[in-house]
Formats: sequence, C-alpha cells, structure tokens
Amino acid sequence: MRPEELIPRPRAISPRPGRCDLRGGLRVLPGPGAEAAAAWLSGRLSRIGDGRAVPVALAVRPADRGAEAYRLVVAPGEIRIEGGPVGLLRGVATLGQLLADEGGAPAAELPCCEIEDAPAFAWRGLLLDCSRHFLSTAWLRRALDVMAELKLNRLHLHLVDDQGWRMEIASRPKLTAIGAFVEDDPRQRGFYTQAELRELVALAAARGIEVIPEIEVPGHSYAAVRSHPELCCTRRPERNPGHQKDLYCAGREATFEFLDAVLGEVLEVFPSEYVHLGGDEAPKDRWRECPDCQRRIREERLSGEEELQSYMFRRVARYLESRGRRAIGWEEILDGAPSPDTVVHWWRCRTHGDAALRRALAAGHRVLCSPNSFTYLSFPVNPDEHFRPERTSDLEKVYSARYAPEGLSPEERGRILGAECCVWTEHLVEEQLDAMLFPRVLACAELMWSDPAERNLDEFRRRVRLAEPRWRTLGVEYGPETVMQPLRTFEERT
Ligand code: ACM
Ligand code: ZN
Repeated sequence: MRPEELIPRPRAISPRPGRCDLRGGLRVLPGPGAEAAAAWLSGRLSRIGDGRAVPVALAVRPADRGAEAYRLVVAPGEIRIEGGPVGLLRGVATLGQLLADEGGAPAAELPCCEIEDAPAFAWRGLLLDCSRHFLSTAWLRRALDVMAELKLNRLHLHLVDDQGWRMEIASRPKLTAIGAFVEDDPRQRGFYTQAELRELVALAAARGIEVIPEIEVPGHSYAAVRSHPELCCTRRPERNPGHQKDLYCAGREATFEFLDAVLGEVLEVFPSEYVHLGGDEAPKDRWRECPDCQRRIREERLSGEEELQSYMFRRVARYLESRGRRAIGWEEILDGAPSPDTVVHWWRCRTHGDAALRRALAAGHRVLCSPNSFTYLSFPVNPDEHFRPERTSDLEKVYSARYAPEGLSPEERGRILGAECCVWTEHLVEEQLDAMLFPRVLACAELMWSDPAERNLDEFRRRVRLAEPRWRTLGVEYGPETVMQPLRTFEERT
C-alpha cells in the first residue's frame, strides 16, 4: 500500500528517492525499550528474512512530541521507526499497512519515504457492550489487535447492564452466579473471571491500549439488584419494558458499601486512571416512592431525585478519587452538579445536538465525545426502525462528525480528551460485529487520529476500498457502507 493510502492518514509524508526491495524478507532489530513493538511486528511478518533481509530498526527516542508520535523512514536498504515505546507501536501499525500490496498479500517492494506522525486526539476509544450479549474473551483479544491496527488506544468495556453482570467479584459471588445469567438466551449468559480480565488488560497494554471498565450507577443495574434484591428500593426487583425501573436504592448505606467493595476489586484488575460510572437513563420512579431515598433527600437537603442521583454519583466518584482514580459519567450527570474533576461523556446528539458538550465545557469539565448520530456504529439497533433516516448510519455520516465543533475557545478545545465509537449489543451478537464495525470504524479512526480539517470524503472512500483486501487477509469482512438494519437476524447468523 502506498503511503498516501494509509488509514488513518499520517500527519506528514515526504517521498524519498528509490525503492526498498523486500523480496529477501525483513529482520526486526529492536533497540532497548522497543520490546512490545518488536514482539508485535515479529508476530505479523510473513517472511522473516535470510541474509538479504531488510533490517527494521526500532529505536526508542524521548517522546517529546507526545507518547504516540513516531517517525518512519523507508530507505533503499533499511526501514527505521523512532518514537516512544507506544509511538513505536503506532509506527508498526503504519508499517503493517505499507507491507501489503493491493491484493492484501506481502508487497515485493516499498517506495522510499519519510513519515512524521502524531494523533489529533489523545483518547481514541471503542466501546464494546459485553452485557446485552456476551462477547467471548477470544473475540475481545482479537478486537484489541484490530484496535491497534486502527491506532485506537482505549477499550471501554461496558461490563454491566440490565441484561447481565459480566465481571467476577470475589466478595459478591451472587453477581456472577445470578447476575450473569438473568437472561434465558445462552448468548446473553456468561462472565469474565478476574484472571481473564487481567490477561486482557496485559494484552491491551502490550498493544498500547488501556482498558476502561464501566460499572453503571445507578441505572442499568437490574442484573446487580436481581443478584442483591436488598439493594433495590422495593427489595423485589421486577422486569418492565424499556429502561428498568428497579435500580440501586440511593437511600441505603448498604448500596454504597456494596459499590465500594465492587469498585475496590475493579481497581485491582484495571489499572486505568479512569473508571466509567455510567449515570445514563436512570428512571426515578422507585426513588420517588422509597422512604429511604426520600429520607436521604431530606437529610442531605437535596432538591429532589435528580439531585439524589448527583449525590450518589459524587459519593461513588469520591471513592474512586480516594483511590487515586477519576470518574467518567454519561452526560445525564450534568443534571446534578458533578465534581469538576468528573469527565462528562457526551452522547445524546440525535435528540440534543451538542448541548451537553458545550454545557460540560462551560462548567469546566473535561469531555469525551460519542455523539450518537455519528459514533454509534450499532445504529440502527432496532429492525423496526430501519427506514428512519435519522437512525441510519453510513460511512459519509460517520465521516462528517465534528468531535470538537466550531466556536470553542482553545482552552475549551484542550479539555476535549477525545472520542469513542460505540457498539451496543441489544440486537447484535459477536459474529455480526465485524460487519457492523467495518468499514465505518475506519472513518472514526481517521477523525480521531488525523487532522479533521483535511478531510475529503471522495478521497477517503477510495482509501477505504483500497484497504479492504488487507483487512480481509486479517480475517475482517467489510459490511456495507450504509447500514439500514442489523445485517443478519439472529436466526440467520452463522
Ligand atoms: C447510552 O447510549 N445510553 C449511553
Ligand atoms: Zn430507595
């Protein structure tokens, strides 16, 4: 693949005279500190060279241009990548694309060039919902490799929702004994042991990716209160259509003791600076009727149930802060008064535009962007909705997103950490996810890494088509550019 065809597009490409002949194979020459990049590169070279092999030098340099910046030089007899340890991984991802010919097979030669590259956004995430439908650890491991190819660096794991609790918590075994099996469908049942999650975190780190766990508070918690009915207001959790009304009681101390214990174990497994505490779509019906919740509102002098949610979120976030971590919450937490340290996750773009982004920035928060119209790659999630244009998703629309809209001051722009694309699995199982991700995830990856001011849809679309054979050799099938409905029904899936 030629340097101009890379996705995401690098910051600067300078052609150099000559070509680099690869027919003798490649040989990896790592300098000190380049072990992770060397291991990843060696594992993917189809031809480890003989005496004629081209050396690929991996040299760790001070990361003065940012941890993920790198420089890649292709010369007639040598390839060289320089950067910090994570920058080298990003350079290896670039080299992997260059080493494929137009059919996805190993290229015989490369045009000489020099590439200087660094990301536009520091946080480039993929949210995977492993609660609504379970995602196997094998699939998640492969997802990490795909993410590294795309230069994504945060895997946001939606570990908890109404349909299932997915993380083993040693001090609360009912969460997995009961909460991981609340649905009858076998594809909605299962959990990860802490050992499995630690392995995932280690593999992610070897690819320069951090795993961000999400433990939802207070809503989307039916699986939790089904396992521990004493933690919900009625003590008798029941299912209802739509968002589940039975959620954690914010009036009882037992709820906070439970959440501290759970998060204590979460922090042992996930070393990430940030933990996502959810906070979205929490119906207040039970809180309005619950004597414990109402007593809490009186005693804490709160204005009502919205402020009660804010009280709860702040208290749980304080626990994280006492352990040296920070909380992220979905944009609904702005309805209370979250601590300025909390990162606000903007998502309701289809119904509210960028109101939450602007409100959060004005209140001094750092912000993460997942505007649903543009970054929810699982849209449309409901087969009945597939002719509603605002619910469709296509490459053009995904590529037209503005994660940092016009009119922000440089200081506000600096508080946008980055973006995440999201795959929610209410209506999807893991065999369907590649075709839901590809090719639209390429648009997200490009907007997160490359300078969004330089986008050109026609030219991008051409690169997306050129990239398909290589992705196919990596075992990834593209779905359509425009997704009008889930691609296969469950019954049709293989
Ligand atoms: C969300 O989509 N409920 C964050
Ligand atoms: Zn209550």
